[in-house]
Amino acid sequence: MIRLDGKTALVTGAGSGIGQCIAETFARAGARVLVAELRAEAGETTVARIRETGGQAEAVAVDVTSEADLEAAAARHPGVDILVCNAGIGHVGTILTTSGADFDRVMAVNVRGVFNTMKAWLPGMVARGSGAVVNLASTAGLEGLVDRFAYSVSKHAVVGITRSAALDHARSGVRINCLCPGRIETPFVRARIAEYPDPVAAAREMASTQAMGRMGQPQEVANAALFLASESAAFLTGVALPVDGGWTAGMFPKA
Ligand SMILES: NC(=O)c1ccc[n+]([C@@H]2O[C@H](COP(=O)([O-])OP(=O)(O)OC[C@H]3O[C@@H](n4cnc5c(N)ncnc54)[C@H](O)[C@@H]3O)[C@@H](O)[C@H]2O)c1
Repeated sequence: MIRLDGKTALVTGAGSGIGQCIAETFARAGARVLVAELRAEAGETTVARIRETGGQAEAVAVDVTSEADLEAAAARHPGVDILVCNAGIGHVGTILTTSGADFDRVMAVNVRGVFNTMKAWLPGMVARGSGAVVNLASTAGLEGLVDRFAYSVSKHAVVGITRSAALDHARSGVRINCLCPGRIETPFVRARIAEYPDPVAAAREMASTQAMGRMGQPQEVANAALFLASESAAFLTGVALPVDGGWTAGMFPKA
């Protein structure tokens, strides 16, 4: 079992889905977890769930699109050893059906949000000569995705942020990696599925895009995050790790 005893981890968007599961997994591994969330009530729920099971957690109210929010949070909580930039939003549309305002909103949360969060805590990690950053990209950051234009562009940028920052800080003792999940069963994905005229068929179709023929679970992404955040991944930096049931491995017959 990988342990994070004595470490402080900050997870953005930890009030739901993958972020909540990462926060709970890190707390079970012994880390003190800062639950950074836009929706205060959702953040408090994650904190309560962690404390109920004997873990250490504290809520930090942030909007990742706000540099000022993150600078203030970093001033209050400077000693972060593990940073998980997970907060993100989805968007459905092609380049032609995506408005400029929607494009800007997706970029503000998914790209500027990661930039703002890393700018707030990376300087402390570099100064201390240790730390691990785990960003949440997507398989849509490695390949294009039909009808998810802005989302796919934003997640390609998260892969770019990860690789570029990893190189810039490769000799600093700070490792910077990202996860590229396929379809994971979270409120985010369930909401998207509910928007389809035939949600059951949509769920089946989403499962079939992954070679394993099923959607992933938040815990399966959290396990990969735990590995990247830990000393077990000491020689990994600049990695974009698919957690996708084989989706991006190549072509396969669809069931
Ligand atoms: N679920 C999937 O299939 C999947 C696949 C690939 C990548 N991802 C990525 O994983 C991450 C988490 O996805 P999820 O499915 O758990 O989503 P989710 O919607 O269940 O949770 C996202 C959380 O981020 C918070 N958030 C949104 N905007 C914020 C902001 N401006 N500031 C702070 N917090 C904010 C939300 O309140 C929410 O609690 C996202 O970056 C997403 O793009 C998800």
